[in-house]
Parts: sequence; C-alpha cells; structure tokens
Amino acid sequence: MDSNDLSTASHDSVTHRTATAPAAPALPPASQAVSRRTFLLSAGAAGVAAPAFAAAVSDAVSPMSSHRKAATAVAVTLNVNGQTRNLWLDPRTTLLDALRDHLQLTGSKKGCDHGQCGACTVLVGGVRVLSCLTLAVAVREPVSTIEGLAQAGTLHPMQQAFMDHDAFQCGYCTPGQIMSAVACVKEGNATDERQIREYMSGNLCRCAAYPHIVAAILAAKSNMPSIS
Ligand code: FES
Ligand code: FES
Repeated sequence: MDSNDLSTASHDSVTHRTATAPAAPALPPASQAVSRRTFLLSAGAAGVAAPAFAAAVSDAVSPMSSHRKAATAVAVTLNVNGQTRNLWLDPRTTLLDALRDHLQLTGSKKGCDHGQCGACTVLVGGVRVLSCLTLAVAVREPVSTIEGLAQAGTLHPMQQAFMDHDAFQCGYCTPGQIMSAVACVKEGNATDERQIREYMSGNLCRCAAYPHIVAAILAAKSNMPSIS
C-alpha cells in the first residue's frame, strides 16, 4: 500500500465512522438516571480503585527503573575517616549524598545543596571542600568528616572549643563550621579575628553565633596538634 492508499484508507475510515455514527442515545428512564447518590457512590469506588491502579502501575515500572539504575551505576572507592568504602553509585551522586545516603554518615549537613552555605563542608586530602558540589566519583584523596574528628573518645580541640565557647545554637551549621575551622587553622588563616571572619565567610550561621565561633577558633588554634 503506497501513501495514496494510506490516505485513502484514512479518508475511508473517517468517512466510515461518519457514515455509521450512532444516533444520539436516548435518555435513560428515570429509574436508571444517575442520581446524586449513585454518582457519589461510584466516585467513591473510583477513589478506592485509584490507589490500587497506581500501585499496579508502580509495580509495572519499578523493575525497569531499578534495571536502569543498576546499569548506570559505577564502582566508587572512597577512603572516609581512614576506612576504605566500596560503593556502587550513580555517577551523578555528590560526595554529600554518598556520605549521608550511602554510608549513613549524616554529620555533614545539607543546607542549600548549591554551594552557598558551607553546611556540607568536609576535608578532602586535608583541603576543605563543599561536598554538595563535589562528585563522589571524582574524589581520589582521603575524606575527613565530622564523625572522624574525635579520637579514642576524646573530642578534637576544635570540637571542645565550640562546646566551651557556646559556639552554636541550633547546631545545624556546626559540623561544617568545625571542619572549615580545622582547615582554616591548618592553612594559617586564623591569625586574628579579622582573618578568621574572612576565611570562615563561606560558612553561614543563621543563628548568628559568629562571635562565639570566632572565639572558639582563636582558643582552639593553640591547642591543635601541629596540624594533622
Ligand atoms: S549544602 Fe553545600 S554549601 Fe550549602
Ligand atoms: S547554630 Fe544554627 S545555623 Fe549555626
């Protein structure tokens, strides 16, 4: 059948439907008419059936979804707080999501997820990075998170200083503040209050605990072991 045949068939079918279109149905007898009561009952039944239908659809697509996920996963090895961790990750997974969702290290916080608040700060190779903007597959050097800071049950001097100086209120920004503060001291960028404020400006605290945070960093730097 060439294109002309197709157009003819199409035209015929349209013509056929037109030619055999049924007459408008007669109104049902009053006893069969849809009353408000029967309409509401049928609507309610549809409401009950809808979740079952949705579940059936979900069941139908789930295997395909998980197949796609498995097919695109890549092997990623991270060294986190001194431990080697092997993962299968979607290559788009951020370091923050790998830590929180795959390794259950939820100390690093997701504030903005856009590189603007510093709540997700961790150290990679001793350098502070925003883990929400870092792809896990791209990480080659050891990762340090707030969970690895205390040693043998003893708080890191920076953690202790934050406690001593009441350097938090809600605490949501605190893990990122502490990791950033540790790096700030190690970088040599904590010589005085002005410099600390400058080099800690990437870590926001919406509780505005800044004066206490600066005081904690000034106190901790003299107690920090020669930068490890
Ligand atoms: S969560 Fe990463 S910078 Fe805000
Ligand atoms: S202590 Fe609440 S955001 Fe910093």
